[in-house]
Amino acid sequence: EKSKKITIAIDGWSSCGKSTLAKQLSKELGYIYIDSGAMYRAITLYFLRNHIDWTNEPEVDEALSNITLEFRSNNKTGDSEIYLNEENVEYVIRDLVVAEKVSEVAAIKAVRSFAVAQQQKMGAEKGIIMDGRDIGTTVFPNAELKIFMTADNAIRVERRFKELYEKNPNITIEEVKANLEMRDYIDSHREVSPLQKASDAVVIDNSDLTQTQQLQIALKYVRMKQ
Ligand code: DC
Repeated sequence: EKSKKITIAIDGWSSCGKSTLAKQLSKELGYIYIDSGAMYRAITLYFLRNHIDWTNEPEVDEALSNITLEFRSNNKTGDSEIYLNEENVEYVIRDLVVAEKVSEVAAIKAVRSFAVAQQQKMGAEKGIIMDGRDIGTTVFPNAELKIFMTADNAIRVERRFKELYEKNPNITIEEVKANLEMRDYIDSHREVSPLQKASDAVVIDNSDLTQTQQLQIALKYVRMKQ
């Protein structure tokens, strides 16, 4: 029996393992994976590189009109990677320099409408998994499956620290912790589509789950909706 293609929205706090689960599901189901946070990070990178004053509305509008975002699949790994004006920025956008400003940029109304419009276009056909902060509430309010992910703070800090430390051994755990706390605060308190659990989302707390267990739980929910 052929299963129905659905839309899967994954939201949650920073560094909860949303993208890990999204990638697992994408491989398992053969669905397209879109990392919406990468779009906000790429926009932030563009603003930083071009010294855009993002408190100035016309300047933001002008800058956005010069930005093209695209996801392309890496030939070797098959992973989807983000391109900013034809440049692969998948790795630079993970820098703490970008992480320090991204929540501020993502709170700007014009930035959100710019990103959300493109996200909705990408999801016009089902068979998509998108992760972020407002996917189940704003981008795809009709998604068949909405997952809200959480994990203990200390575990999230530890995970993100390990990830960043591999690239930059000068990084401290205090810096990482402060950045996570700041982003969670701004992301959940902003005026336009703040991070919120959609009322019809299922919660996965992966503090004590292995990646295999987390995938099995999510797949059970997928099968219920297909
Ligand atoms: O998922 P991430 O950590 O790469 O996201 C980076 C930032 O982008 C996050 O701190 C908040 C913002 N973001 C958002 O506002 N809405 C989304 N759908 C995804 C990310």
